[in-house]
Amino acid sequence: MQTPIDQKIVKQEIDNMGLESVGLASIRELNRIVNNIETASGDRFIRMEMGVPGLAPPQIAVDAEIAALQQGVGSKYPPFDGIPQLKTEISTFVKNFVDVDIPAESCFPTVGSMQGCYMAMMCCARRIKGKDRILFIDPGFPVNKHQARVLGLPYAHFDVYEYRGDKLGAKLETYLEKNDVAAIMYSNPNNPAWICFTAKELEIIGNLATKYDCIVMEDLAYFGMDFRQNYSIPGQPPFIPSVAGFTDNYILLISSSKSFSLAGQRIGMTAIPQKLFHSTGNNLKPFFGSDRFGYAYIFGAMYALTSGVSHSNQYGLLGLLKAVNTGEFNFVDHVKEYGDRAFAMKKMFTENGFTIVYDMDDDQPIADGFYFTIAYPGFTGIELVEELLYYGISAISLTTTGSDRHEGLRACVSLTGKERFRELAERLAKFQADHPLGSDFKIIHA
Ligand SMILES: Cc1ncc(COP(=O)(O)O)c(C=O)c1O
Repeated sequence: MQTPIDQKIVKQEIDNMGLESVGLASIRELNRIVNNIETASGDRFIRMEMGVPGLAPPQIAVDAEIAALQQGVGSKYPPFDGIPQLKTEISTFVKNFVDVDIPAESCFPTVGSMQGCYMAMMCCARRIKGKDRILFIDPGFPVNKHQARVLGLPYAHFDVYEYRGDKLGAKLETYLEKNDVAAIMYSNPNNPAWICFTAKELEIIGNLATKYDCIVMEDLAYFGMDFRQNYSIPGQPPFIPSVAGFTDNYILLISSSKSFSLAGQRIGMTAIPQKLFHSTGNNLKPFFGSDRFGYAYIFGAMYALTSGVSHSNQYGLLGLLKAVNTGEFNFVDHVKEYGDRAFAMKKMFTENGFTIVYDMDDDQPIADGFYFTIAYPGFTGIELVEELLYYGISAISLTTTGSDRHEGLRACVSLTGKERFRELAERLAKFQADHPLGSDFKIIHA
């Protein structure tokens, strides 16, 4: 049987990588295999394995950074917690789009939200004696668990698929009751499933964080990108749903990578409410030299990790945020393209026998955004990753994300422009023709 990509080449490149299972490959490993197959075959894949922005960075940010470099900021150390103008602009941004008042003092840039997450884990897990566990509401971004492991922190996780809506509280309490949870972490919208918690679910999480005195690490890596609502007008409802409305025990981790297409710049934002920032913890001092949470964060953790974010980069983000906060630059319009792609691509998959795995937010269909999840009857996710390689389509297995839906894959839309849609549809049609629904027929080319 002929497949869109030469079978011999696919097989050979899979073997060359020497992995135990292609289906369990990490994102970067799969990325490498696909690069190798593309080079060896001369064919281009529909690349859906990596969550990288596929859009150009906003010119305003580029210009602002160049101007700062030309003025010579490159020779000077920036303050650990950010240049004052940027801190103020982050505070305004959070007020404009999440509708919470967080003073500039506790708003600061980080080296990507990735570093923000790492620092948050570090400080949350050392805040109170006996509370050092991170609880991940999965599916999730595998690197966050890697961070917990690197920090030597215990963690627990569960797949939220079966626990949406009212069921979420009881499930969370089974972990929180043990009183060792330092922080609860999730991304919203979610990587990989693109589920978004409802206000009711955020309220449940917030109330329990207060009750059990643990901190919610709310990862807003896809800030404003639930396109079902228009969150793009500064200072006007609807505001981006957040646990911030329901507890003071939270840290907002905001990425510039996807919403602002600035992944290469490695700049993100952290915002900590006043009450938490000025609180004390009985376990902080031995690690950070102070028992004050905010002080430990900046002069303990930030100092030790990166001592701030590159100076010119801060000016780039500052220029952009100013334009966003005044309504001059609509960042949501800039990335809405991803939602349009997801709508079209999900249709192509479902018309060719695939199903959407995480398909609902409680009682509402999920949004079209940066990712979606797919399955094909009769295949495990691990098998499907490998089989799709022969059809020139690459995606990662949900098994690597803490999901219990082992039949599923995560597909990212960012690198597939409309000009590739016809090719995708043809490859999917061929896949379905080769794997007729209702038959047990599977070719696993391994
Ligand atoms: C859920 C989630 N958190 C964090 C990040 C990393 O963000 P940054 O590039 O700002 O470090 C990503 C990037 O893919 C992500 O998906």
